[in-house]
Amino acid sequence: MPDVISTTGTPYADGKILTHTADGVGVITFNNPDKRNAMSLEMWEGFGEALTALRDDDTVRVVILRGAGGKAFVSGADISQFEKVRHNAAASEQYAKRSAAQRALLADYPKPTIACIDGYCLGGGMQVAMLADIRLASHESQFGIPAAKLGIAYGYDGLRHLVSLVGPSWARLLMYTGMRIDSAEALRIGLVERVFPQGELWGETMAMAETIAQNAPLAIKAAKITIAQVLKDESRRDMEAIKVIGNACMDSVDFREGRQAFMEKRKPQFRGK
Ligand code: COA
Repeated sequence: MPDVISTTGTPYADGKILTHTADGVGVITFNNPDKRNAMSLEMWEGFGEALTALRDDDTVRVVILRGAGGKAFVSGADISQFEKVRHNAAASEQYAKRSAAQRALLADYPKPTIACIDGYCLGGGMQVAMLADIRLASHESQFGIPAAKLGIAYGYDGLRHLVSLVGPSWARLLMYTGMRIDSAEALRIGLVERVFPQGELWGETMAMAETIAQNAPLAIKAAKITIAQVLKDESRRDMEAIKVIGNACMDSVDFREGRQAFMEKRKPQFRGK
């Protein structure tokens, strides 16, 4: 993965979170390589600001999350902060609130997201990756949630996503042992969607992002909203939201463009309207 980080991008959290954009693709880089991109509270907050900025940038149609340094996506929360800010239940609740608010932004993100995982993806890093819509990884990556090794309760949201991706048995195995698994196993159990050689991961991720960026934004939004509702308990599903986005999509200029482009045998130009 290229470690060239665009100088035109915006830094957050003292440069430990970076963003840049190109051709409809927004990239957020976790940039704390000395600590394997461990997330301090300041980084969680910077991550939230970066997500918000790319969400509000109309030129961005898809967002990639990645780690700097070639050794880790994110190695989890910054354990060195725990003594001060996460040492008991009350402190932990405050800590969780501040970091969960940023993850909630990702959970409800209106644009498609891809986690590009090269190296360690552990603890809170898994939480971030599991909240992304799609996970692509290098062969060299390792995945795990070492909460039981640290005495941490992983929380409802993180476990809900883990169970929905890998099922309850693998979730228990990972959580009870704190074991790390490699990319081949992560692929087999459904934790990641595709695995590439390290040298190809970034190119493949960008190619997928560009494909998504060129497709019809409203159709993608409809899929995103509908799949999110499918994952909810039936009693909590917002079927109206599905109907609203479905109507917006089928009444859109882009749908007309898609039909016309097909008939005229040319590439469609979608505008998200
Ligand atoms: N929090 C704080 N610091 C971390 C960290 C984390 N989650 N993960 C790594 N670091 C720091 C290490 O303390 C080390 O710092 P040092 O150079 O000052 O000694 C540095 O990053 C490099 O880590 P190191 O362990 O030497 O690298 P490695 O490549 O051999 O191993 C990991 C990488 C990620 C496997 C290992 O650091 C690790 O197990 N980290 C903790 C993961 C974890 O428990 N995450 C869940 C947190 S809730």
